[in-house]
Amino acid sequence: MLAKFFEEHFPVPDGADVCNIGIGAGYWDRYLCYQLRGGSLTSIDVLADCCRALREGLENEKNPARVTVLNADVMDLAGMEGAFDIVTMVGSTVRESGRGAAIVEKALSLIKPGGSLCLQTLLDEGEALPVDALCAKHGAAVAAHLFDPAYGYGARYWKIAKI
Ligand SMILES: C[S@@+](CC[C@H](N)C(=O)[O-])C[C@H]1O[C@@H](n2cnc3c(N)ncnc32)[C@H](O)[C@@H]1O
Repeated sequence: MLAKFFEEHFPVPDGADVCNIGIGAGYWDRYLCYQLRGGSLTSIDVLADCCRALREGLENEKNPARVTVLNADVMDLAGMEGAFDIVTMVGSTVRESGRGAAIVEKALSLIKPGGSLCLQTLLDEGEALPVDALCAKHGAAVAAHLFDPAYGYGARYWKIAKI
């Protein structure tokens, strides 16, 4: 479902710079590598093991994509505001970060004007994020939204476009 949502709503322009926050097992980052059209991927995770596994996996398969793996807490990243055409933050990253709206605001800050955020959350209804208010604060708008109850909890997907 995530790949379908991404492919439907995020045509990747030639040379686009893409960033993913939260590597985990690295499947999503590996998928993103193959969506690049001459651009770059920056993958960020606070856990060194996740970063190392992604780097090794890409090396082992001799993946030709231009990928930078950053071992950092995204909340501490400085100097990358407005650096990316597309930022993704999916799976359990928002939940695991424990930062709620603040990590979404950080993701929004990394996007260029005209760029977009692919956000997926796996949160209980009581934990729902104030996405419309966050968009208003950051000069962005919801361009697409999907709710998928298929996994027994609410998976929500957004395309958030930065104006
Ligand atoms: C389990 S993964 C899920 C995301 C992955 N893209 C997926 O869909 O499988 C979540 C990752 O987010 C990372 N993470 C959580 N908070 C973070 C933060 N503040 N900065 C960077 N990475 C973070 C965790 O270390 C973990 O590896």
